[in-house]
Amino acid sequence: MNNIVIVGLQWGDEGKGKIVDYLSENADTVVRFQGGNNAGHTIVVDDEVYKLNLLPSAVLRTGKISIIGNGVALDPYALISEIESLRVKGMDINPNNLMVSESCPLILSVHKEKEKLFEDLNGNHKIGTTNKGIGPCYEDKVGRRAIRLCDLENADELNKRLDTLLNYHNAIRKGLSYRVIKKEEMLREIEEIAEKIIPYRKPVWKILDDFVKEGKKIIFEGAQGTFLDIDHGTYPFVTSSNTIASQVMTGSGLSSNAYVIGVAKAYTTRVGNGPFPTEQRNEVGNSLFTIGKELGTVSNRKRRCGWFDAVLVRQAVQLSGVSSIILTKLDVLDSFDKIKICTGYQYSGKIYDYLPASRSIQEELEPIYEEFPGWKENTQGEKLAEKLPVNLIKYVKRVEELIGIPIHLISAGPKREDVIKLKDFKFSESVLVSY
Ligand code: GDP
Ligand code: IMO
Ligand code: MG
Repeated sequence: MNNIVIVGLQWGDEGKGKIVDYLSENADTVVRFQGGNNAGHTIVVDDEVYKLNLLPSAVLRTGKISIIGNGVALDPYALISEIESLRVKGMDINPNNLMVSESCPLILSVHKEKEKLFEDLNGNHKIGTTNKGIGPCYEDKVGRRAIRLCDLENADELNKRLDTLLNYHNAIRKGLSYRVIKKEEMLREIEEIAEKIIPYRKPVWKILDDFVKEGKKIIFEGAQGTFLDIDHGTYPFVTSSNTIASQVMTGSGLSSNAYVIGVAKAYTTRVGNGPFPTEQRNEVGNSLFTIGKELGTVSNRKRRCGWFDAVLVRQAVQLSGVSSIILTKLDVLDSFDKIKICTGYQYSGKIYDYLPASRSIQEELEPIYEEFPGWKENTQGEKLAEKLPVNLIKYVKRVEELIGIPIHLISAGPKREDVIKLKDFKFSESVLVSY
């Protein structure tokens, strides 16, 4: 087994892109299996900052194959514009090193418009989405009226699919007194992009099957985070895909096992609305925001900030079958006198050791904290575990104890090389020995 899955253990932006980039040095292929360009994965190489939305984080390394699986909601315009912006920076992205599943449902202008219409209708109850059309595209996929990448090559099929799609969207648009959309308009929109996108289309499931048989090393790059999962997250304040590790199989066609690594921030952030038990709407939250530079990668919104929540991360580990954790952004805590970890919740005289599903209870949970002395030392850019402050090690050990699985790597700086190995990856399956 040479497959690794990277998933976010909080509400996204845990530093997955940086970690996938780090591990991909020794991999052959990186695969996205859900989400779309709502993701924003930052990688810093030699002071150049790359923000990837749809492209897997291997595109920055030469000789790697990048794959977009069928589980991704594909905005063809966004993909082409991302490819072009990287070409300008000297990256060679072509159909030999980028492959996109022919089954991907396409995000079109109707989806972005529908998302905006419904977010506006919801007034004070907005989800706070990224406005990329992700939710409406997945709705159409499940409603069996999506246009898929493979439909672009067949004019008859495309015509029929467009009729079905527009029957639905125009009924809603009429109901909201919004302008109806003509088929010719949609056809023009699609024709404009079809030629550019068709060369990348491939039977990804089959290619992955071959890669597995050839013993290639494959990394599956999760987007978003566990508590944005449509089934397991803080519903309805979630994204519209499954973000946990089991989605790898449906979202790519992989049929073999994979070793799951979870990425968590040393504190917690969330962008958009919804419950957040350890949120700090005070000086602590402001400091985490400022020091951690917590501005959303996609929407440039302020990320809400709070203490590390061990209850959440433990639940995420259980949901994805995570075997190893990577803890990021420890340097952001360098200047804090006291640092807290949430170890449980209190609600209505009861103690919870998990996040209950009800939104109204989630909003009312009172976190129970353990407090730790800070290390008050600069760790940004540190690469050696021996040089880390004692209090930082104690903090990491306590997190490890509370979560119940090993933390193999930590990171204390945004750059590609800012990674500290705490333990070697040595497992019975020997998957990670070579990483
Ligand atoms: P992703 O969506 O999980 O890939 O994470 P994002 O890229 O959206 O957000 C993580 C942010 O933290 C990015 O700006 C990274 O450059 C930055 N980052 C990642 N790891 C570290 C770290 O260890 N320390 C600091 N200070 N920044 C980090
Ligand atoms: P990465 O991969 C953080 C959030 C949005 C909103 C909710 C639904 O960079 O970690 P959507 O547009 O998906 O329908 O929005 O999900 N969200 C993210 N938050 N990181 C992400 O991705 C996110 N992708 C979506 O802010 O609250
Ligand atoms: Mg992000």
